[in-house]
Amino acid sequence: MKKSIAVFDSGIGGITFLRDAVRALPTENFIYYADTDHVPYGTKPDDEVRRFVGEAVAFLQQQGIKALVIACNAATSAAVAELRKRYSFPILGMEPAVKPALAYAGHRKVLVFSTSLTARGHKLKSLICRLEREHQIVTMPFDELVATAEAFDFDSPAVRGLIREKLACVDLKTFGAVVLGCTHFIYYRPLIEEGLLEGIRVFDGNFGTLKNLIRTLPGQDADRTPDRGNITFYSSGRVPDDALIAKLTKLVIAQQ
Ligand code: DGL
Repeated sequence: MKKSIAVFDSGIGGITFLRDAVRALPTENFIYYADTDHVPYGTKPDDEVRRFVGEAVAFLQQQGIKALVIACNAATSAAVAELRKRYSFPILGMEPAVKPALAYAGHRKVLVFSTSLTARGHKLKSLICRLEREHQIVTMPFDELVATAEAFDFDSPAVRGLIREKLACVDLKTFGAVVLGCTHFIYYRPLIEEGLLEGIRVFDGNFGTLKNLIRTLPGQDADRTPDRGNITFYSSGRVPDDALIAKLTKLVIAQQ
């Protein structure tokens, strides 16, 4: 039996990665694991999130996976270093795409939206420090969008209001880029883009992580087995009910 690539998130955010991954690697089998019992991660302490991620990855290891993508910036921030010490399969993390955003923005500022956990985390702070342009980067927690995404509310007057209010907190004229540092926020890319001024570009980490995944995979499987791969869903270690599987599948096949 062909081994699967596991994609993990606290909830539905990582589906934005899965959607791109199944298009790029159509013959691979995927497992999508959402830790629905414990979402949101971003407002919880690091050690608690580390424990939840540890339990999920122990479950995924039992399924005999060939690679793990932590399609969650908060889980990556809290747990990736420890997981890499414990497991021998490749573990890809997700980081806010600050580097390409700065390259695009030039001398203008970069606004990084993330969860509270990612914003205060050592991982993002040291990334920003390494780039030596701290003065240009403004981090802003936006945990509310995790709850709205989990409620499958992708475009309501309430969610539009939340985004409008958040963007009103900064002087957009001084910004050149916005980074979506949480995979749940990617569902709101069109609404966020609508609220920005011309010339401000939105970045997320999915493409970079997908490139790393493709580089990591042995690759030969794809050529030898032309059949389409499948996706198995888990919700905190259980098989979700049919209604949830249908909703998640719809997100995977949705066009952006
Ligand atoms: N999707 C996760 C991320 O990329 C976090 C969502 C949560 O707070 O659980 O950070």
